[in-house]
Amino acid sequence: MSETAEIKLDGQTYNLPVVTGSEGEKAIDIKGLRGETGYITLDSGYKNTGATESAITFLDGEKGILRYGGYPIEQLAEHSTFLEVAYLLIKGELPTKEQFKDFNNKITRHTLIHEDMKQFYEAYPRKAHPMAVLASMLCTLSTFYPESQDADRDIDSVDLTITRLIAKISTIAAWSYKNSVGHPVVYPQNKFNYIENFMNMMFSMPTEEYEINPVIADALDKLLILHADHEQNCSASTVRLVGSSKANLYSSISAGVIALWGPLHGGANQAVIEMLDKVRKDGGSIEKWVEKAKDKNDPFKLMGFGHRVYKNFDPRAKIIKKACDDVLENLGIQDPILDLAKKLEEVALRDDYFIERKLYPNVDFYSGIIYKAIGIPTDMFTVMFAMGRLPGWIAQWQEMINRKEPIGRPRQIYTGPTVRDYTPINNR
Ligand code: ACO
Repeated sequence: MSETAEIKLDGQTYNLPVVTGSEGEKAIDIKGLRGETGYITLDSGYKNTGATESAITFLDGEKGILRYGGYPIEQLAEHSTFLEVAYLLIKGELPTKEQFKDFNNKITRHTLIHEDMKQFYEAYPRKAHPMAVLASMLCTLSTFYPESQDADRDIDSVDLTITRLIAKISTIAAWSYKNSVGHPVVYPQNKFNYIENFMNMMFSMPTEEYEINPVIADALDKLLILHADHEQNCSASTVRLVGSSKANLYSSISAGVIALWGPLHGGANQAVIEMLDKVRKDGGSIEKWVEKAKDKNDPFKLMGFGHRVYKNFDPRAKIIKKACDDVLENLGIQDPILDLAKKLEEVALRDDYFIERKLYPNVDFYSGIIYKAIGIPTDMFTVMFAMGRLPGWIAQWQEMINRKEPIGRPRQIYTGPTVRDYTPINNR
């Protein structure tokens, strides 16, 4: 007999099915609870709620494990490429040589964006945050490809939308940067691979030859791999939730970008550098800022520390920390911000407050330092994260559609006034 959980409510016992995942994770299936008992479960922030059963990514926050499709993140970061990982997440298996060639060719051939989209760039204020531009432009793609409106359409057209998204996001991202500094945009070139193409569009100028540094290309590729998916996080859940209303894929991804932008999520990479810069300008006293982070009356938090699911070292942070050292050494960069970051990590990891709450540096703690070292401006950091996370969002959306999941619609416990009669303003 399959396992069940017993729940006693109002003197009556109910049996609820238990679901077990392939890594032994257990859940109580409460779908039928309200129908049977009238009770709902309450869990703001979804801290203990499984929104779906998913075969994409496995994460064990206590042990610090992260795997895409069963493959440990450490192996993928070391030996794979971002596009290969994108294929793995979206198709469920690593590609053969032939499959990869075909996938890569398709992506390479779709990097151009419609010339009319250039006009939108010109209309944005120079100070526009590139995350706002990215989200708007991704949503705008749906206006150029209106046939993408129907989320349940045939596999070929979904495939084309996926190809367009992965291909065009790097052009859209690089152009938002060029536009913000008032430089001419650089068109994609098919001779480059995915990362090189992005670097060329970001950094090459009409005034001088641009040479791609393979160490930087490597580090960027690694960063995108590490960000590619992270199961039911805030932005992935947003993509699934928006997509569950059958909104088209471009718009669902655009919503994911917005969710990622917040400083408690992907926006933390920008916030980390801004925080470290503030500490430096304030005289560099790490101890003072650690004390502020611990003070419950002070809203300040250590950006890049803590995670909803990792209660151990974020495995991605470990890999990034090493990549960060390699890049800085290769480029011969001495960065006072990095010294501060190292000191902050040291002080926080020894402090009882952080130990008791299992607060470790997360993926965003070190990624910003690499981006900074390779010349990516601070407000583009979260855009880099979005580029990396795109295949994960697509995979999550696709799984939700394929599983025919119902529209996402949580319930609530109402705590407002009970019924009362309306009185017109004149009588009040
Ligand atoms: N600095 C100081 N204290 C912290 C921090 C921090 N960065 N993070 C958590 N805490 C404290 C909380 O105040 C709380 O203390 P309490 O139990 O005494 O009330 C305790 O640790 C638990 O934290 P919660 O906020 O309940 O944890 P939650 O899972 O809701 O939040 C989050 C996780 C949002 C990541 C939080 O740790 C945070 O704000 N960190 C800083 C922002 C950040 O780096 N975000 C990036 C996350 S990684 C990513 O999204 C890619």
